[in-house]
Amino acid sequence: MNGADSSAALKIQRPTIYVKELSRHARKRLLRHFLALDSGDRLLRFGSVLPDALVARYVDGLNFDRDTIFGVYDRKLRLLGAGHLAFAPREALPAMRAATTKERVAEFGVSVSSIARGMGVGTRLFERAGIHCRNADIDTLYMHCLSSNKVMMHIAKKAGMTIHRDYGEADAYLKLLPASPATVIQEAMQEQVATLDYTFKANMRAALKWLGNLPWVKRE
Ligand SMILES: CC(C)(COP(=O)(O)OP(=O)(O)OC[C@H]1O[C@@H](n2cnc3c(N)ncnc32)[C@H](O)[C@@H]1OP(=O)(O)O)[C@@H](O)C(=O)NCCC(=O)NCCS
Repeated sequence: MNGADSSAALKIQRPTIYVKELSRHARKRLLRHFLALDSGDRLLRFGSVLPDALVARYVDGLNFDRDTIFGVYDRKLRLLGAGHLAFAPREALPAMRAATTKERVAEFGVSVSSIARGMGVGTRLFERAGIHCRNADIDTLYMHCLSSNKVMMHIAKKAGMTIHRDYGEADAYLKLLPASPATVIQEAMQEQVATLDYTFKANMRAALKWLGNLPWVKRE
């Protein structure tokens, strides 16, 4: 097998990843996910090494009505990754004022648990955020420290997004294409499939718990 064949084979083996929009009921799981990030990851994700108390405050303050938060669950319904799309008026992000004529811009923050890296979770969260922005008539996506984050730059380039560095090397933002009928259908279908996957996992967990509580079932 040559190099190209083996890397293609590795990609084929990646598990299917379902990205689901999260509701406020996911707060506890989000907190667990963020608290497991080490200081290096917290620096990349939040722009500073947030102590646990501030991570908890960030999770408490998440506004599920204004923003959109995505997640990827494992089979035990632990969050392997989370992406936060925060929407703001163009004026609220001074660096973005000249970048767009749209009324709103979006800032995206994403993190993947260390055990789940390199499997495509970050890519899927990023792609979903991009589609969601396009469907919400947003053409500019800002990410803190994008320029210095090699993995994120790779993911953005792979998704075909144009990376702009109008303000030097430190800040960068991504330009998105407008929505199309395909992006609207794509997002709706992704959400439906992710909801089915979540429901299946939740039912499996409940069934296993119930079975485990039966008196004649042996516990290991
Ligand atoms: C950035 C992050 C979300 C990526 O998540 P992930 O699930 O590992 O990402 P994926 O598996 O989808 O993709 C990673 C890609 O980067 C590539 N990559 C890994 N290290 C790299 C590097 N040093 N330089 C360039 N590319 C790199 C991988 O090969 C992979 O590309 P491929 O899919 O084409 O093979 C994750 O590393 C993370 O949580 N980091 C800490 C927080 C952070 O940096 N957040 C972003 C700022 S908000």
